[in-house]
Amino acid sequence: MRLLVDSADLDDVRAAHALGILDGVTTNPSLLARTGVRLDDFLASVCGLVSGPVCVPARGLEADAIVAEGRRLAALHDNVVVKIPLQANGLVALAKLHSEGVRTHATLCCTANQALLAARAGADFVSPVVARLQDMGANGFEVVAQILEIYDHYDFDTQVMVASVRTPLHVQEAAVLGADACTMPLAVLRQLVEHPLTTSIQERFNADWDRA
Ligand code: E4P
Repeated sequence: MRLLVDSADLDDVRAAHALGILDGVTTNPSLLARTGVRLDDFLASVCGLVSGPVCVPARGLEADAIVAEGRRLAALHDNVVVKIPLQANGLVALAKLHSEGVRTHATLCCTANQALLAARAGADFVSPVVARLQDMGANGFEVVAQILEIYDHYDFDTQVMVASVRTPLHVQEAAVLGADACTMPLAVLRQLVEHPLTTSIQERFNADWDRA
């Protein structure tokens, strides 16, 4: 399963990249608003650092506007993947950009049917938003399992990138289900390796090195 960091903070991306296990970056308008960084500036910095997919949102309400912005973003760097929400206009834009060879990331996926349409439109990635679904009492990982089961039946190339991830258990569940990728905040990425028992045993070992 590929691991991506979800951020609009270049320091976060640098720290995630330094862990040696980073496969890419995702961001969204709320994260960009929080840091105040310009999308093009963020892209220029991140694409120079990370070799994997850099998934960035295409601003626009109508399909034509999304397509125009998607073309613009894709032309900036080779590893750009254009993020588009799974709504009717977004689906039209996904299919159009795919037909032009632009890599796309269908986001805000809440149902298996949405993911089915994303694959039919040729999206490179689809992101079920698991914690957001859980927030409203739905079972986000049941949606992930349904998507993976559906995709297994057909020769879709779309990869399932689990998103809206808030805990290491979310990452573990995504991996147990066989998701292709998972994007998460830096804090979660850092937590993946931590366990108090590992730490306490190693502290004892370190002490015993001094006696050895
Ligand atoms: C991932 O691509 C999204 O930016 C992110 O995961 C959206 O979900 P969140 O806002 O609940 O984290």
